[in-house]
Amino acid sequence: MKTADSLPQPAAYAAAHAESLADPAAFWAAQARALHWFTEPTQVLSTDENGFYRWFRGGQLNTCYLCLDYHVAHGRAGQVALIQDSPVTHTVRRFTYGELLELTARFAGGLRELGVEKGDRVLIYMPNLPEAVVAMLACARLGAVHSVVFGGFAPHELAVRIDDAQPKVIICASGGIEIDRIIPYKPLVDAAMEQAAFKPAHVVVLQREAIAHAVHARMQPGRDVDYQRLLEAAPVACVPVDATDPLYILYTSGTTGKPKGVVRDHGGHAVALKYSMSAVYGVQPGETFWAASDIGWAVGHSYIVYGPLLHGCTSVLYEGKPVRTPDAGAFWRVIQEHEVRVLFTAPTAIRAIKKEDPEAHLLRNYTLSSLRHLFLAGERCDPATLDWARQHLGVPVVDHWWQTESGWPMLATLVGLADMPAPRAGSAGHPVPGYDVQILDEAGLPVLVGTTGLVAVRLPLPPGCLPTLWHDDERFRQSYLSTFPGYYLSGDGGYCDADGYVYIMGRVDDVINVAGHRLSTGEMEELLAAHPAVAECAVLGIADELRGQRPIGLVVLKDGQTIGEAQLETELVQCIREQIGAVAYFRQALVVKRLPKTRSGKILRKTLRQLADGEDFVVPSTIDDPLILDEIRARLRSRGIGLAFERQAGLLPTNTA
Ligand code: COA
Ligand code: AMP
Repeated sequence: MKTADSLPQPAAYAAAHAESLADPAAFWAAQARALHWFTEPTQVLSTDENGFYRWFRGGQLNTCYLCLDYHVAHGRAGQVALIQDSPVTHTVRRFTYGELLELTARFAGGLRELGVEKGDRVLIYMPNLPEAVVAMLACARLGAVHSVVFGGFAPHELAVRIDDAQPKVIICASGGIEIDRIIPYKPLVDAAMEQAAFKPAHVVVLQREAIAHAVHARMQPGRDVDYQRLLEAAPVACVPVDATDPLYILYTSGTTGKPKGVVRDHGGHAVALKYSMSAVYGVQPGETFWAASDIGWAVGHSYIVYGPLLHGCTSVLYEGKPVRTPDAGAFWRVIQEHEVRVLFTAPTAIRAIKKEDPEAHLLRNYTLSSLRHLFLAGERCDPATLDWARQHLGVPVVDHWWQTESGWPMLATLVGLADMPAPRAGSAGHPVPGYDVQILDEAGLPVLVGTTGLVAVRLPLPPGCLPTLWHDDERFRQSYLSTFPGYYLSGDGGYCDADGYVYIMGRVDDVINVAGHRLSTGEMEELLAAHPAVAECAVLGIADELRGQRPIGLVVLKDGQTIGEAQLETELVQCIREQIGAVAYFRQALVVKRLPKTRSGKILRKTLRQLADGEDFVVPSTIDDPLILDEIRARLRSRGIGLAFERQAGLLPTNTA
C-alpha cells in the first residue's frame, strides 16, 4: 500500500455504506491506503482463535509514526499540531509537529530508560495537558500500551485499573484545576498505589509550574521520577508493531463495580480514525479541529489526540469548562482565536452555556466565521438544545452516536460524503459506513419501522472498534456478543424511522450518562449496599436539566437500624464521592420502607425510574405489592424529584424502550 495524503473525492453516502457492508475487506483495504505501513497487511479481515474479528493482520505500522514522524517528513514540521488553551492558567501554548515529535521521541527515550518496552502498560492520570499527549504518543512510539484514567476518578477507581492493567509506570501531574479549586493528583495516586495489590515500579510526576504556589507533589525516592528528567533522554525511533497489537486500554463503566478494559489496536484504529476525519467530520489536513472533551474519555483519545494528528490537523487541547472559565463565552473565544473549523462537544456543555447566557449575548463579542460544523455526542441531545445551538451559531449541528467501545461514530450525518440526508432533530443520523445497525426485539428479530428495540450492529464491526476486553475474552463475549449471535449488542435502545434516521433513546442496562460521563448504577449500588445500615438499595439515573441524567439512591434500612436519614444520606453521598469521584454527581439518597419487586424478587428498576421522572406508566402485572409505588412516589415528591419539568423541556425521550 502506498502512502497518500489525499483521499479520493467525496463518495456518495449510500454507495459507500452499501459497499462497506457488501465487501468490508475491499472497502477498508481502500481506506488503509491513506496510511503509511511499514509492512502491508496480508489479511485485511480475519478471525482469531476466539472467533473474534481482527483487521489488517500481518500489517506493521506505528501510530506515533503516523501522527508525527510521517507529517514531519512530508512538509508539516512547521505546522501547529497542538494548541494548549488553558483559561484556568491563562495559558496558550502552540506545538508544531516538529516540536511535538522532538518532545515525544525524548520522552519515549526516558520511558525506555525506566524499563518500558513494547507491550508494557503505562497508566496516565493527568488533566488536559500537552505533557499528557506527549506521554500517550511516547507509549505508542515504544509499542507500550497506555491507559489514561480520567482525573475526576477517585483513588479506588484508579486502584482497580492499576490491578487490572498492571502498569510498569504511572505518569501523573501534580494537580488539576477545577472551576473553584486545585486538586492535587499525586496524593490520589499514592493512595491508589497503597490500595492496589499490583505495585508499578515508577511514578513519573509532572510538577506543574502554573499551580506550584499551591501544590508541589511529594516524591518517594527511588520510585518517583520528575517528568522533566525523562525529556533529557536521547530521542528514540518508532518501534514497528503489528496492526493487531494493542495501542491502549480505556476503562469504561460496565454494569458491575469492575470496569471494562476496552482494547484498541494500532491498525484498525488508525484506519478508522483517518477515514472518519474526512468522511464524518469533513475536515482537511491543516485545518483546526477541537474536541472539547477530556483525554480521559474516548472522545479525547480519538478526537483530541489520534484522529486530528493522524489527519495532519491542528488539534485544540482545552483545559477549562464551557462556563465560568471565565464565562459562557469561553467556547466562542476559543473558536475565534484558533480558527476552529469543527467543534465536537457534549450536549451538556451547550445546555450549560444556554443556561448562563440564554440569548447568547456573549456570542456577539466574537466572530465564528471559521466554524463549519458543531458535532454533539456522549448523551442524548434534546431537540431544544440542538435548535438553540443551530439558531445562535448559524452552522449545521450534527448529533452523532458512539461509545467507548466503538471509538468512533456509529451513527452520524457524514458531512464529508455527498448526498447525505440533512440532520433531523432527535436523531443521531444514519449508520456510518462499516456499521450495519439493526434494531432488534428481545428475540433478536428486526422490529418494524418506528418501533423501539435494542440497538445492535451486525458483525463484523468495522476497524477501530474494540477487538476484545483487556485479558477478558469471555467478558467481551458475554457482554456484547452472546445475546444475539452474529451481532454486537450496544446496550442502547432506539428506533429507526421510515427515512432511515436512527433515534437513540438511552441505555437499557445499568449504565447512565451524567454530563456526558458514563457511570455504572450497578457499581454505585454495590458501594451503597456495603454501608452497615443498608439492607438493600437501588440507584437510578433520573432526568436532570443540566446534566441529562443524575443518579439518586433509594435505600432500605436493615431491621433495628436507627441512623437518621440525613446522616445516612451524608455518609452515602460521601462514600460515592470517595470511592468513584465527585464526577458521579451523586447527591441524594432516600430511605424507603421497601423496593418494588416482581414476585420472583427482581427490583423493578424501570418502573422506579419512570416514577422518579414523573412519567406515566403501567403498573407491572408481576409486581408483588402495587401500594409500595404510591409510598415511593410520595417520598420522591417530598424531595422535589419527579416534577416532570424535564419532559416539558424536551429532555426526556417520548418513545422509551
Ligand atoms: N478532576 C477532578 N474533579 C472533577 C473533574 C476532574 N477532571 N471533572 C469534574 N470534577 C468534579 C467537579 O469539580 C465537581 O465537583 P464538586 O461536586 O465538588 O463541585 C464534580 O466533579 C461534578 O462535575 P461536573 O458534573 O462536571 O460539574 P461542574 O459544575 O464542574 O461542571 C459542566 C458542569 C456542565 C460545565 C460540565 O459537566 C461540563 O463541561 N460538561 C461537558 C461534558 C463533557 O464535555 N463531557 C465529555 C464527554 S464528550
Ligand atoms: P461513552 O462510552 O462514555 O462514550 O458512552 C456511550 C453511551 O453514551 C452510549 O451507549 C449512549 O447511551 C450515549 N450516547 C452517546 N452518544 C449519543 C447520542 N448521540 N445520542 C444518544 N445517546 C448517546
